[in-house]
Amino acid sequence: MSESAADRLPSKSHILAAAFEVPRTVVTNDELSSVLDTSDEWIQQRSGVKERHYVDDAEGSVPLAERAARRAIEKAGLQVGDIDLLLCGTLSPDIDFPGNSALLQDRLGLGGCLALDVRNQCSGFLYMLAMADQYVRTGGAKHVLVVGSEVHSSGLEFADRSRHVTVLFGDGAGAVVVGASPSPDRGLLTVNLHSEGAFAEKLCLLGPGSLHKPRLAKDWTPADIYGWPQMDGRFVFRHAVTRMGECIDEALTAIGATKDDIAMVIPHQANLRINQLVAMGLGFGDERMANNIDRYGNTTAATIPILLTETWDAGRIREGDLVCLAAFGAGFTWGAALYRW
Ligand code: ACO
Repeated sequence: MSESAADRLPSKSHILAAAFEVPRTVVTNDELSSVLDTSDEWIQQRSGVKERHYVDDAEGSVPLAERAARRAIEKAGLQVGDIDLLLCGTLSPDIDFPGNSALLQDRLGLGGCLALDVRNQCSGFLYMLAMADQYVRTGGAKHVLVVGSEVHSSGLEFADRSRHVTVLFGDGAGAVVVGASPSPDRGLLTVNLHSEGAFAEKLCLLGPGSLHKPRLAKDWTPADIYGWPQMDGRFVFRHAVTRMGECIDEALTAIGATKDDIAMVIPHQANLRINQLVAMGLGFGDERMANNIDRYGNTTAATIPILLTETWDAGRIREGDLVCLAAFGAGFTWGAALYRW
């Protein structure tokens, strides 16, 4: 690339617009209590969740993703054809392969552009933002559509042994458009990403997968334990609190800023108590940490873009603010990003 072409590359990427979609059906804690040995009081006290949205019948994560994506593109003032890179994050793809990115690309009519799947669970959205940033700043893409979408409701076990997992999750999709920042002072300032595979089995779904021969046994029934998500909740909880705090500190150090400079934290929504402990470590009250787990539960890769959209649309994020996005999830994976909005 000639020097002049390199000079024309954007120095920063930014989130140009954000939108989300959740299914219409709301499932309250009381409704779950009619099928599980649980209670509204237990769920609210331990996790902060009051209700979540579930898809009806056989709607997958791609239709939700499409609606969020079209809304985000419109809010950015762009046409679908302006997107030249599609990144999709999910742990609940519509089919085993190809991934959601191929299916969404077709539904959007984006044939021909690069479409990629990212499997980093609750941190997937941050991993995708980091990739979008690289593509935008190196001239590989002008407008990146980043979509997280999940349908958990068809993959949860509605039986007492899984109640600690089932009550936490909901369905939804969130999308952003990433492009060149409108100003060199604004946009993504730093992002750090981490993984620790030693703890993979602390939060996982063991099958179906290639370790099983045959991969899907003829006599497979949903009651088979390998068909449901497993989680060592306390272990995950402890690590989430520590790692989220650490990676936010790491991001602040990277740009020479302090906790006081942060205007708003948009954290992953796994458990309100995790976020309250992280906020306590930062010395923040509710006014500087957004949460919406009470209404949606944990929507994994969709969580951060859903919360970002709501917080931005409500005017709680303004131009010039230092905004922190932070996540922790299965893998383990975790990370934090700082944007000058
Ligand atoms: N309703 C009623 N009682 C329950 C329920 C329920 N839904 N679930 C568990 N219990 C019971 C347990 O059986 C236990 O009973 P016992 O004391 O008689 O043995 C008691 O409640 C306490 O159980 P714990 O599992 O110790 O409860 P805890 O306070 O740890 O809360 C929770 C559980 C909410 C799962 C919490 O540990 C948590 O949020 N962990 C982190 C989740 C997370 O961050 N996941 C990462 C993101 S997900 C992703 O990346 C895909």
